[in-house]
Amino acid sequence: MMINSFPHTRLRRNRHDDATRRLVSENQLHIDNLIWPIFVCEGENQRQKVAAMPGVERVSLDLVVEHVRPAVELGIPAIALFPVTPMSKRDEYGTEALNKDNLMCRAARTLKAAFPQLALIGDVALDPYTSHGHDGLIKNGQILNDESVDILSKQALNQAQAGIDIIAPSDMMDGRVRAIRQLLDENGLQTTRIMAYAAKYASAFYGPFRDALGSDALLHGDKKTYQMNPANSDEALREVALDLQEGADMVMVKPGMPYLDIIHRVREHFKAPTFAYQVSGEYSMIMAAVENGWLDREKSIMESLMAFRRAGCHGILTYFAVEAARILRGQ
Ligand code: PBG
Repeated sequence: MMINSFPHTRLRRNRHDDATRRLVSENQLHIDNLIWPIFVCEGENQRQKVAAMPGVERVSLDLVVEHVRPAVELGIPAIALFPVTPMSKRDEYGTEALNKDNLMCRAARTLKAAFPQLALIGDVALDPYTSHGHDGLIKNGQILNDESVDILSKQALNQAQAGIDIIAPSDMMDGRVRAIRQLLDENGLQTTRIMAYAAKYASAFYGPFRDALGSDALLHGDKKTYQMNPANSDEALREVALDLQEGADMVMVKPGMPYLDIIHRVREHFKAPTFAYQVSGEYSMIMAAVENGWLDREKSIMESLMAFRRAGCHGILTYFAVEAARILRGQ
């Protein structure tokens, strides 16, 4: 890198005023980069606050179209759906995941009919449906891999047939992307995309999400035999390489802000469409500080999102998506 020395070179010149700063800005955050995760629940006229995520609600299907409309009007390209399954519909095998009329499928049909252009992302994992809160099947205290992959691929097919555009396996079983791709293709769904949660860590930052889904109290043990060890970085590249080989169209790193180094390595190494999930705990941390008056709301939201772009993300799943889009539109 060529650099003249002071006083010839003064880097502060390019920071002199807003116009110059905009001219030399290396990264931009755009509404196209935003994906909004939402929680849907059973019942009618339900808007339930999630205690651990101020500002986030679980919404019943009769209200979901109006709930999502502002995101569509602001130009957000995609939303990610998460169903809150009542205990009565959960079992050891996550059977409800394969029900063609489960909440996820009904939500997909409702939203596709209202907003045909909006991309719907479906999370594939069994944790919303299992009585034990794990993402796969369990036997003698072990999470089974291949048997879980079998159900997960059927879950993916069920979602795709209901209108989900982008299948997002978040289960971290080995080989699930290949199995999902194969089953989708066999069923004429060659254009259904796969966004793999490729490098997903066993993280404490999912805590508020499990509260939103009601799987927190259920979860026996932890997810360390399938989600990654936060100490590892090279392993993330191997996970991403496998998912891309198996047919993933896009890859994701999760959580986001504590793992910006991983995002950067993944983007540099593979040059593939790279996404990050600014997870519930990251949202709650910012909101807690904002509510205490310790952080400026707009500035910290926008800085946190720009950091993902700088690290190499094409897009970000964020509970701030609608608010960020409003800020970007100057509303
Ligand atoms: C389910 C899933 C989780 C999240 C997304 N999909 C939780 C988990 O793995 O326990 C977390 C999202 C968030 O914290 O915002 N497999």
